Amino acid sequence: MNNSQKLLIIGLGKMGGSLLEGLISEKLPNIEISVIEPHLNEINKDLVIKNTNHYSSVDKINSFDFDIIIFAVKPQIVKEVCEQILLLSNGKHFSIISILAGTKIKTFDRFFKNYPIIRTMPNLAASEGSSVTALYGNSFIDNDFKLLTENIFSKIGEYFWINSEDDIDIITAISGSGPAYYFYLTECLSSIAKEMGLKKIDTNKLAKIVAKGSSDLMMSSSKTANELKENVTSKGGTTEAAFEILEGSQKTFYTLLKSAIKNAVKRSKELSN
Ligand SMILES: NC(=O)c1ccc[n+]([C@@H]2O[C@H](COP(=O)([O-])OP(=O)(O)OC[C@H]3O[C@@H](n4cnc5c(N)ncnc54)[C@H](OP(=O)(O)O)[C@@H]3O)[C@@H](O)[C@H]2O)c1
Repeated sequence: MNNSQKLLIIGLGKMGGSLLEGLISEKLPNIEISVIEPHLNEINKDLVIKNTNHYSSVDKINSFDFDIIIFAVKPQIVKEVCEQILLLSNGKHFSIISILAGTKIKTFDRFFKNYPIIRTMPNLAASEGSSVTALYGNSFIDNDFKLLTENIFSKIGEYFWINSEDDIDIITAISGSGPAYYFYLTECLSSIAKEMGLKKIDTNKLAKIVAKGSSDLMMSSSKTANELKENVTSKGGTTEAAFEILEGSQKTFYTLLKSAIKNAVKRSKELSN
């Protein structure tokens, strides 16, 4: 790869938008950014206009000279977009980064045979710089492309490499969907508090602050989540009473959560096939 690189992001929704914000906030040297997005939203409109070459669709691009393309559209339209890019690129090779859920490398490989491709699985916390992104590359990626990808994803949180593409199904169910499980737990705490009589209190705020405090504690402490839980659970106390129901001898909550995760993994596999 040469020093100055041309990067194209296709799809500037929640994830593509977060990636762009991360890239612009800590500008990568020698990168020229272009984006394709049919409808710019109010949140990133100014950012896009000031910092990128914006196209509303693939066919608005006159000449194709991109080195890296980040695919950040919904999986349902990826084949159509690949067909358009294949036509436009007219045989010019480039490197591919995909953030699409349930979309295997072989989907891209059908259009772009032997191209360097990195499949990733970030999560929604990318907008806060707190994503955790799994990275998996095919055999055509080189060290420069790996480093650049690490650089891009370090701007939206932490990243780690995996050796098997199959692991992405589990990662999707754990960390891709993960924020939704924590949101759900927060919503449940808030609703239950209301139902039990805390009518005049902002239980939504109460539950959110509990989630933040717990997350802060987990991140700042060297203790495991289990050890922190034990710290709150005194013998014969209220938390222990709650866990008699949540866990009990049947490990009720754990078992339920495990079957929920298994169902998410199953869906991820179905989508990628
Ligand atoms: N959200 C998550 O938590 C999460 C986590 C991990 C991975 N992902 C993956 O990230 C990808 C994007 O998800 P998202 O949540 O960011 O979805 P999103 O907010 O719907 O973003 C997709 C964007 O692509 C735009 N678009 C549609 N057709 C296009 C085209 N032909 N060319 C260029 N852009 C086009 C859409 O514009 P319009 O809205 O105007 O159609 C939209 O802004 C998905 O593949 C998803 O599987 C998402």
